[in-house]
Amino acid sequence: MASPPTTRLDAAHFDAQALRWDENPAFRARGEKLAQAIRQAVPLGPHMRALDYGSGTGLLSFPLKDELGSILLADSSGGMLEVAARKIAEQGVRNLATVKLDLLVDPLPGQRFDLIYTSMTLHHVPDTDRILRIFHALLKPGGCLCVADLDQEDGSFHGPEVDVHHGFDRAELSRRAAKAGFDDVRFQTVFSIAKEQENGARDYPVFLMSAQRANHP
Ligand SMILES: C[S@@+](CC[C@H](N)C(=O)[O-])C[C@H]1O[C@@H](n2cnc3c(N)ncnc32)[C@H](O)[C@@H]1O
Repeated sequence: MASPPTTRLDAAHFDAQALRWDENPAFRARGEKLAQAIRQAVPLGPHMRALDYGSGTGLLSFPLKDELGSILLADSSGGMLEVAARKIAEQGVRNLATVKLDLLVDPLPGQRFDLIYTSMTLHHVPDTDRILRIFHALLKPGGCLCVADLDQEDGSFHGPEVDVHHGFDRAELSRRAAKAGFDDVRFQTVFSIAKEQENGARDYPVFLMSAQRANHP
């Protein structure tokens, strides 16, 4: 029997979700919990320039903004970035900026970063090895990468019709990060997302991987 057609969750999908994204208390709580996990994994400071890749509306960057010098919120969804930009303007925040960016398609930005973090976005990026190499290239020597995403699951998180990575096996992702040039790869479990499935409630753990770009150029 032929498999059902699958669909990618593209920028238009996230554009359509953007206006109501921050209404979801689970998304807001996720940002706070991941911000705390990043604080524990990486020493933050006012000299640091950070990139939030797949930032959405900035739910992870707003909690971190007073502990970093500047943060660039990058996303392929213009709708998500419009919401982020409105929040930045309304709150008079001076160290957050937005850019529409798909690093697998667009030219790399000219800046280099002390910290790159990405929350629940890696599973949407088709080529994991390539995006890890790009993150490595965008970090200054000694800079840190933090990736928050789902542990490997059976595809039930998004459902069979959605074409995304089914989370990540930690050992495999660790090998891929090392191959891309990262050292000191560590994992912690930050929280779990509970979802009601046909055969009952199911928990999907979310990890934070932290890694360092070696201190030589
Ligand atoms: C599940 S949402 C997470 C948003 C935000 N990080 C959060 O935790 O609230 C995934 C985000 O990744 C963005 N995204 C997906 N693929 C991307 C890509 N190739 N480049 C940049 N952003 C991407 C989507 O537009 C969306 O905003």
